[in-house]
Amino acid sequence: MESYSSIQFHRTLLTDAVRTRAYQKSIARVVSPGNVVLDLGSGSGVLAMFACQAGAARVYAVERTDVILAAQRLVQANGMADRIQFLHGDAEVVRLPEKVDVIVSELISKAVLGQRMGPLLRAAKKRFLKPRGKVLPQSVELCIAPIEASEKYSLLEFPPSAAYGIDFSGLRDLAFNNTESGRFRARNLLAPPQTAYRFEAQESKRPVAKRRLSFVIRRKAVLHGFCAWFSAILYPGITVNTAPPGLPSWDNLFFPVLRPVELAPGTTIELDLKGTETPDGVIWHWETVVKGPRGISSRYTQSTFSGSSISRQTVARNSLKYKPLRSRWGEIEQSILRLSDGTRNLREIASQLCLRYGKEFQSQRSAETAVRGILNDLAIKGALDTKPDP
Ligand SMILES: C[S@@+](CC[C@H](N)C(=O)[O-])C[C@H]1O[C@@H](n2cnc3c(N)ncnc32)[C@H](O)[C@@H]1O
Repeated sequence: MESYSSIQFHRTLLTDAVRTRAYQKSIARVVSPGNVVLDLGSGSGVLAMFACQAGAARVYAVERTDVILAAQRLVQANGMADRIQFLHGDAEVVRLPEKVDVIVSELISKAVLGQRMGPLLRAAKKRFLKPRGKVLPQSVELCIAPIEASEKYSLLEFPPSAAYGIDFSGLRDLAFNNTESGRFRARNLLAPPQTAYRFEAQESKRPVAKRRLSFVIRRKAVLHGFCAWFSAILYPGITVNTAPPGLPSWDNLFFPVLRPVELAPGTTIELDLKGTETPDGVIWHWETVVKGPRGISSRYTQSTFSGSSISRQTVARNSLKYKPLRSRWGEIEQSILRLSDGTRNLREIASQLCLRYGKEFQSQRSAETAVRGILNDLAIKGALDTKPDP
């Protein structure tokens, strides 16, 4: 996720002309002269600048990573600094001084889920959008189809035990319970795609990313998994579609099956797909049932949860029955936050830490490093009051 702060990541987005022009055209239609606009997840600030080109009176550009500094420079150089106000922080904690007419954002992951576009836009609409305000994108669908992809599939394999005399099958199970990014060819799709999930900006309820799909295969082939992408309607008539091989900004997402399955014409493949967004990413579950003329030939139940080597402690910690007990390090964090009352600088806070927690901090320098790290994390979560740069 931290790549969001890298200029290289934003360069890829900006040089993707299909993506960026589609946004520019849609923003030109959705923003009317004099509008107040929110750019949610502003990155380089490009959408905020498109809103200014469309005549926006003011734009609030919210971005949680330090790329905001580059965006500010860019906006200044383009003469739009008087109309774009940057807010450095998480979209869920920032406050705006007024309601907006339009919210624009590009928080679309390769299989829709991943950047919490749904929850972030729903919350932003509730908090910041005027009653008849507009949201861009309008809708985003997760498209998925079964695929023959022997090359990609073989890249996921571990060495056979003959190679080193070691059995790697335990790792194989972990690997195949994971999704993989990849670029695929349309001709390798085994059936027309179907929609597994649809985000609608105008809907305020949380849509459930859970769907049972059924595909009929018309030719002899081998099933290696499923290929997912998205199709977004930014504005009526303006779409971005990342069908194989995708666009420079988005490749496709591959859901492998546990073992390749030989398919005869007329075979049915049923797929139960469920995606759950968490603050740390998406948990995908996919169950595949292959039905030939003589009944079910294969059934695989896979999930990124099984593939993630999550420790028992992590699982227990996410249960609502869990009674958390603060650790010594938690106490240190709490002390740092308490000492951050606007009267002490970092050096003074670090000196206090050395006095109070001499066992943990044997030098002023180690305390200073810890204070910096902890306060940076807390600032991103909105725990520090932000004053304008000195
Ligand atoms: C895919 S980039 C798009 C950047 C830019 N809007 C564009 O279209 O080129 C998404 C941006 O949203 C930011 N972002 C993601 N989640 C955020 C959140 N919860 N609060 C603020 N910014 C967020 C990321 O740091 C990243 O810069």
